[in-house]
Amino acid sequence: MTAFAYREGSLFCDEVDLVSVAAEVGTPYFVYSGRLLIETFVQFRRALKPLPGIICYALKANGNLALLKILVSLGCGADVVSGGELYRALKAGFPPSHIVFAGVGKTEEEIRWAIDADIRQLNVESVPELELVNSTAQKLQRQARVALRLNPDVRADTHPYVATGRGDSKFGLDLAEAVSAYQRASTLPGIQVTGLHFHLGSQILSTAPYVEALKKIIPLMEELRRKGIMIRDLDIGGGLGISYNKEVAPSPEQWLAVVKDELQRLDYSVIIEPGRALMGPAGALVTRVLYLKKASTKNFIVVDAGMNDLVRPSLYGAMHQILPLREKTAPSIVADVVGPVCETADFLARDREMVRPAAGDMLAVMKTGAYSASMSSNYNGRPRAAEVLVFGHRYAVIRKRESFEDMMANELIPGLALEARLDSKKNG
Ligand code: LLP
Repeated sequence: MTAFAYREGSLFCDEVDLVSVAAEVGTPYFVYSGRLLIETFVQFRRALKPLPGIICYALKANGNLALLKILVSLGCGADVVSGGELYRALKAGFPPSHIVFAGVGKTEEEIRWAIDADIRQLNVESVPELELVNSTAQKLQRQARVALRLNPDVRADTHPYVATGRGDSKFGLDLAEAVSAYQRASTLPGIQVTGLHFHLGSQILSTAPYVEALKKIIPLMEELRRKGIMIRDLDIGGGLGISYNKEVAPSPEQWLAVVKDELQRLDYSVIIEPGRALMGPAGALVTRVLYLKKASTKNFIVVDAGMNDLVRPSLYGAMHQILPLREKTAPSIVADVVGPVCETADFLARDREMVRPAAGDMLAVMKTGAYSASMSSNYNGRPRAAEVLVFGHRYAVIRKRESFEDMMANELIPGLALEARLDSKKNG
């Protein structure tokens, strides 16, 4: 399944020529295929069957409201990790019964909002957090539905920055602590234990770590049941990888077959929290070539998108394919594709062999639907890029390009700033 393909030498997103979008919205811009997003969601939903359960899309991958609305209309749920994401999920219309809230550092305020909104469950990551959820719920005269996030200490073969299920990571509770934490939870009047959560990491390209984790987790859930602690939801997190280059990723069917095998006939309902696999392939970042330049040992293609738009190559050494919007026959070049940001780490690709573009040509950085726009910043005074949704032969802007004014909107110049200046003058 793909949304991006050449038609007579021009790169299209479904029925839309990406050059024509650039003429209207400028560059850089993100473009998303609504069709592919829907098809991928439906694929996950089919793959989950016949297990009872819900898909809680991880908003951190891309929280654009228009994309969220599409998912809401399909019956998707949401996995949020902050008050801001909870607010966004509610605004987009996700039913609270389909919202789960994870994160190691929830504040009391965020916990209160979650309980107030009556979300499906808080995925609690430590005993002190459990105590705070309990006292907050009691103050509100409510019971908070809670899953404990356990750290199954499983090594998933991925970038260390995105591996979360290892023993030395900050996420979740150690398995050794699990029974006592659940027992404690079940005695707390403000807590209703409903689930068990784990998340092994991201961009995982094998089902083996899930098998390993489930072999530890399922016996534990059975033990908890024997102790009278009834868990309804088994939340296996997200993490399913995608093929950025030549990697082979398991399909949603293969991923969930593992859960079905391990769960057998047990009557748990399953929550999955895909982010990247749902959104990543549906998006691309379109950028324009500004200059070609040559240093003593390297060629550089300088483009108008930088690490503030797409930080994954700089942060994780991530590889995203880069395709020309217009195919052409020209000699190939090996070059670093770099942005305008004043950092040597500002690159979208290194030592990449590609058809030599000319200044003014446009390029698409592929599979940037997830963790791209959502990780973008204003660094170097750069407005965040526009975002565009394609449906069939039509498209619409779903996030305007930021203006310079937008970037300064929250800044204040109090009298204090002037006083400080006068003061420093006085002191020479
Ligand atoms: N659930 C939890 C609790 C998570 O922490 C995450 C991602 C997900 C679900 C979704 O995982 P996914 O299906 O997208 O792998 N910025 C990094 C990825 C960080 C992922 C953090 N947690 C990147 O660009 O590769």
